[in-house]
Amino acid sequence: MRSKGLKISLLSVAAAAFATATLLRAAASKPSGKAIFREKCAMCHGMDGKGFAAIHTPDFTDPKWQAAHPEKERLDALKNGVKGTAMLSFQGKLSDAQMQAVLDYIQSLGSKPGKPAPKKKK
Ligand code: HEC
Repeated sequence: MRSKGLKISLLSVAAAAFATATLLRAAASKPSGKAIFREKCAMCHGMDGKGFAAIHTPDFTDPKWQAAHPEKERLDALKNGVKGTAMLSFQGKLSDAQMQAVLDYIQSLGSKPGKPAPKKKK
């Protein structure tokens, strides 16, 4: 009788520990900028980030574009949108961590193949 109760409480302790470990792992894993980009941005910016002339989206792979548009400005566009264009605000739709991840991804598109990215992020 007693041992049965003990077994059950041990089981629930194990279940709680497992749930905690799963939660911790989820919190620790960084959001994937590439996945976010493909899901939420690629329809306007292209799967490759090169943009579409028809809707005036910039070419994120162009080092000249990268140089002319610092990350501060990109974050501002992401948070507030670009007035008068199709670029809408993602405030409240993406977390700060997700915004940072997708900006890191855009940054990585600007580095030439074979050359290290200006800001190395893995
Ligand atoms: C509905 C279409 C659309 C979607 C979806 C979209 N964008 Fe844009 N985005 C645009 C357009 C159009 C521009 C060009 C605005 C301009 O003319 O300055 C732009 C511009 C930008 C710029 C450049 C801002 C600057 O001038 O420095 C960044 C960075 C950007 N988008 C990031 C993103 C990211 C990241 C996502 C996904 C989370 C996204 N966009 C989703 C249409 C879109």
